[in-house]
Amino acid sequence: MFSGQLYNVVVIESLGKEGVGWPAVWGKRRERGVRMTDRAQATEDGRATKAETLAVTDNRTGESYDIEITEGTVRAMDFRQIKVDEDDFGLMTYDPGLSNTAHCRSSICYIDGEQGILEYRGIPIEQLCERSNYLEVAYLLIYGHLPNEDEYNNWVYQVTHHTFVHENIKNFMEGFRHDADPMGMLLASVGALSTFYPESKDVNDEWQRWVSTVRLIAKMPTLAAFAYRHSLGLPYIYPDNDLSYAGNFLNMLFKIAETKYEPDPRLERALDVLFILHADHEQNCSTAAVRTVGSALPDPYTSIAGGVAGLYGPLHGGANIAVVRMLERIGSTDNVPDFLEDVKEGNERIMGFGHRVYKNYDPRAKIIQSHIEEVLEATGKQNPLLDIARELEKRALDDEYFTSRALYPNVDFYSGVIYEALNIPTDMFTVMFAVPRTSGWVAQWMEWINDEERKLVRPR
Ligand code: COA
Repeated sequence: MFSGQLYNVVVIESLGKEGVGWPAVWGKRRERGVRMTDRAQATEDGRATKAETLAVTDNRTGESYDIEITEGTVRAMDFRQIKVDEDDFGLMTYDPGLSNTAHCRSSICYIDGEQGILEYRGIPIEQLCERSNYLEVAYLLIYGHLPNEDEYNNWVYQVTHHTFVHENIKNFMEGFRHDADPMGMLLASVGALSTFYPESKDVNDEWQRWVSTVRLIAKMPTLAAFAYRHSLGLPYIYPDNDLSYAGNFLNMLFKIAETKYEPDPRLERALDVLFILHADHEQNCSTAAVRTVGSALPDPYTSIAGGVAGLYGPLHGGANIAVVRMLERIGSTDNVPDFLEDVKEGNERIMGFGHRVYKNYDPRAKIIQSHIEEVLEATGKQNPLLDIARELEKRALDDEYFTSRALYPNVDFYSGVIYEALNIPTDMFTVMFAVPRTSGWVAQWMEWINDEERKLVRPR
């Protein structure tokens, strides 16, 4: 597991290549150069040379401006100087959805959508899924390096010993309607954690940030499992500290009358891999929400509740539910050709296909596929939706319509099928995403708090 030495080599090489790589350091703002990387041509004072500027001519006035380019970006505020007259407010940039606006610098996650590459802190996702476990990956995301053996043992101990929630949280959750959406329950209860730890409002305190991080990663599965049990009218199951992170989550979800729940190691591993795959994914909607809320400096529970809220939406965390519904609607492999014709005529979309960033096979979809058989073998049931999904993928990847548009399966295409195989109801899918994404959110929040350029987010 904790082969930190081996991995550190990979991290350093990869980070060097990308020109990033300040580790997350508790309570210490990282040192930064002046808007310049190795790739940029810099003068001694770190300013850009002429070659690294953008010449802009304002045709309204005939004035010309040199706008500095650093790391492939220009600063929106540099455009404010461009005015028609003294009373003019200055030029703004307009970017709904922030599709072409970088709003932070981050060394946590790297995606190359053209090549289908995903790395956490410079380590390819495939390596992490093969050799690490979720808690080790959570440590990597937060601290910037893999733990050595002592660090790992201490980290696991800390997370394991913070899994219980105050009894009042349990009582509070019992107050939800019997059919409450588990994601809504999770959203409310993560936000409610803030009221149990008022001292966490001091985000400048290193200890408070650390203990909140541990609590969030530790308690999220407990809250998620309570929400699930509530929706079934089953008693809540307390955490079992003898079990692994994934094993304990299975215990809290599925334990019935046995004295001791023993998770099937195949399911435990498959869930752990799913957790690794969902731990972080750059500046998406929910992560941007965590940073945006976090910029007002509330306690971290409140910022992470912002992330849960973003994830709740069907355009973000809910896509795998849409995949399962689509597969159910197709109903049989025989109907796949007709369905594809409908898609090509523009009447449908293949849910779980295509991605804003990946224009190649989503690496996470490949890894999920490799665990499906194992899960089906462990649960002893066949999932007919899987056959439909495979037929759909095969035919689509053979069809010029889809290949010419670079439409490949994304992470959601198979994750819903695997959750189904794990007996997780569709209402819980987004919750299953929120649990592991917590480590990514916390890492991003931490990086943001330590960022010298952090500002209250206040768009125009
Ligand atoms: N099924 C069929 N056609 C699709 C498609 C899909 N899932 N996704 C994109 N296309 C087609 C579009 O119709 C368009 O075709 P056109 O050029 O003939 O008009 C072309 O591919 C580009 O689509 P566009 O919507 O501009 O791409 P995008 O990068 O903005 O969209 C998604 C990305 C994710 C929104 C889109 O692929 C999608 O809706 N996927 C299904 C939902 C999903 O799986 N979401 C989870 C993402 S993790």
